[in-house]
Amino acid sequence: MTADDAQGPEAEELEVSEAQIAVHWKEEEFYYPPPRFIGQANASDPAIRERFTEDKFPECFKEYADLLTWDEYWHTTLDTSNPPFWRWFVGGRLNASFNCVDRHLRTRPNQGALIWVPELESDETVVVTYRDLYRRVNETAAMLRDFCGLKTGDRVTLHMPMVPELPILMLACARLGVIHSQVFAGFSGAACGGRISDSQSRVLITMDGYYRNGDLLDHRVKADEAVARAKEEGQEVDKVLVYQRHPGRYTSKNPMVAGRDFFVDEVMASYEGQLVDPVSLPAEAPLFIMYSSGTTGRPKGCQHSIGGYLSYVTGTSKYYQDIHPEDTYWCAADIGWITGHSYIVYGPLSLGTTSVMYEGVPTYPDPGRAWRIAERLGVNIFHTAPTTIRMLRKVGSDEPTKYDYHFKHMTTVGEPIEPDVWRWYYDVVGKGEAVIVDTWWQTETGGFMGSTLPGLEPMKPGSCGPAALGIYPVIYDEDGEEVPRGSGRAGNICIRNPWPGGFQTVWGDPDRFVKTYYEKYNKDPESTDWRDWPYFANDGATQAPDGYFRILGRVDDVINVAGHRLGTKELESASVLVEEVAEAAAVPVMDELRGRAVEMYISLKPGVVAGPDVEEKIAKVIENEIGKVARPKNVWIVPDMPKTRSGKIMRRVIAGISNFTDVGDITTLANPEVVEEIRVQVQKAKEARGEVPRTLSEREEEELEAFGQAE
Ligand code: WTA
Repeated sequence: MTADDAQGPEAEELEVSEAQIAVHWKEEEFYYPPPRFIGQANASDPAIRERFTEDKFPECFKEYADLLTWDEYWHTTLDTSNPPFWRWFVGGRLNASFNCVDRHLRTRPNQGALIWVPELESDETVVVTYRDLYRRVNETAAMLRDFCGLKTGDRVTLHMPMVPELPILMLACARLGVIHSQVFAGFSGAACGGRISDSQSRVLITMDGYYRNGDLLDHRVKADEAVARAKEEGQEVDKVLVYQRHPGRYTSKNPMVAGRDFFVDEVMASYEGQLVDPVSLPAEAPLFIMYSSGTTGRPKGCQHSIGGYLSYVTGTSKYYQDIHPEDTYWCAADIGWITGHSYIVYGPLSLGTTSVMYEGVPTYPDPGRAWRIAERLGVNIFHTAPTTIRMLRKVGSDEPTKYDYHFKHMTTVGEPIEPDVWRWYYDVVGKGEAVIVDTWWQTETGGFMGSTLPGLEPMKPGSCGPAALGIYPVIYDEDGEEVPRGSGRAGNICIRNPWPGGFQTVWGDPDRFVKTYYEKYNKDPESTDWRDWPYFANDGATQAPDGYFRILGRVDDVINVAGHRLGTKELESASVLVEEVAEAAAVPVMDELRGRAVEMYISLKPGVVAGPDVEEKIAKVIENEIGKVARPKNVWIVPDMPKTRSGKIMRRVIAGISNFTDVGDITTLANPEVVEEIRVQVQKAKEARGEVPRTLSEREEEELEAFGQAE
């Protein structure tokens, strides 16, 4: 594969020197897919690439849509009349719940659709067959419709942990055309409340508790905070449905609120055995909203469609995850993130496979847990994030060798993976038998944007590979000039064309959709030619001469902590809620396990004395406003923030201090003298704590230099 093949025939002459490439990374060796994998792969015919070349766009995506069962076939594959609000498969009608459940009833009623593994090993694993799934989705849909009064187009907020009731609820919503908004269970009540009000949900569905690291967490308490926060923001919640982790035994310390809160088990009794016809919906009707962080303060609700999204995740699950119905597929992500929506629930179930869900921490109660699950259930496709791989390696680098499981396929997603971590994944976890796909994509893109086709293209550690089928990327510099293809030079990766999985808009804020993702590289706002509307992914990337992309990380003010997107603005606005705080700045610091961690720099109001109390208050307020995932690694209370003469905080400078890298030119600052003062304070403390990072690669240094420039 060459850069030209990857990008279509009209690629420019390459002018690359070895030196330019070496600046960014050392080239890694190719690894070739094992013949045994190729022999059974869904995509094993090299001609598949030909079917998705640019001259076949957009009709090439018919191949994905044809994997679905349509009530009515579409008349227009892609309608571009109102850019960049693309409409896919216009005229078509379908139901996502029907596609993920009903259509498998005849062929595989007794096959597991979901296998749920509770965290406590003494608890029994639950198999939900396609027949069970059908029954439970129908009953749940009846309850949502008749007890909650939800109808097509309404929004409902789910704040559910990793239990089978979560995908069942999603599919029940999909059956009715109710738009679900699942909030990651690790997010706080306040964060959930903000999402309830933004999506105008009247109903919240939650659970009393769930297990994490052996503890039964009180999750239900967050519902009270969520409802209160939503109310402050003007949104009333009239019903809270509560599942019980141990049916019949309510475990939260907060009492149920009479008239508002209901135990699902009690309510559901009235809907036993009820069937609800799947509502036939237009392809472009919304399926769900998924909130994600970006440059500005509030998280954005990314709205995904039924027809386009489901086609795209089904097609990519088939060709990139290589899912066959008889596989046992385990994606260890949380359904509260896009990965879980697309590649635990919608893609795998649409293909009729068996999808494994695990409640808790993969290293609980010991480092062999994940591999025991794989062995016991016969998992043959495994999907996780670099942060988990790093952790599994750290706590038990030879654990996988002790268990008799065999993966044919493994996925990594969510963050750049270091080549040596990749090699451990390949050699030890995969036992040298499994193919790996490094899939680059985003909440906004719905499905994979960059990856090798596992049976056809060799793997290269640290690079996601070429663009996915039917995706035509381009790398631009800041001025909109194309970075020469295959030059290895860094720039902003964009997708030149629409694709069916792309989100439709930012919920309630179409202007933000256009501004954040399209304005930067659009040259003619009047144009209805999709070629004038490249999608700006907000990621930096390079492309090697062989056409493979390497994703460098976010170019906006997002810090990717263990694969979770945290907006610096969200962290900073949470911090200034603490009375003593005058100003706050969040920066990323390199972290051995989590990829990046957050450090907060804080200046206090005059007269306030610094101390551990204030530091803890700040960490706590961040946990309360966002969630434990966002808890900063360190809070540094500093005498003053380094600022430009116009008063802008120089995040680049403090990021340099936190990471022990060059702080760059500070002569133009309003207060250059403070830089050295902070440096000595922070770095001394870090040395004392043993937190001096390893030497950073040039690429990582570039990332830090670029940090904070997005304002
Ligand atoms: C990053 C997760 C490198 C990237 C599916 C992107 C990656 C952000 C990769 C989206 C990868 C995702 N290699 N970086 N394979 N996959 N990213 O919305 O910065 O939670 O923009 O979606 O994760 O995170 P999100």
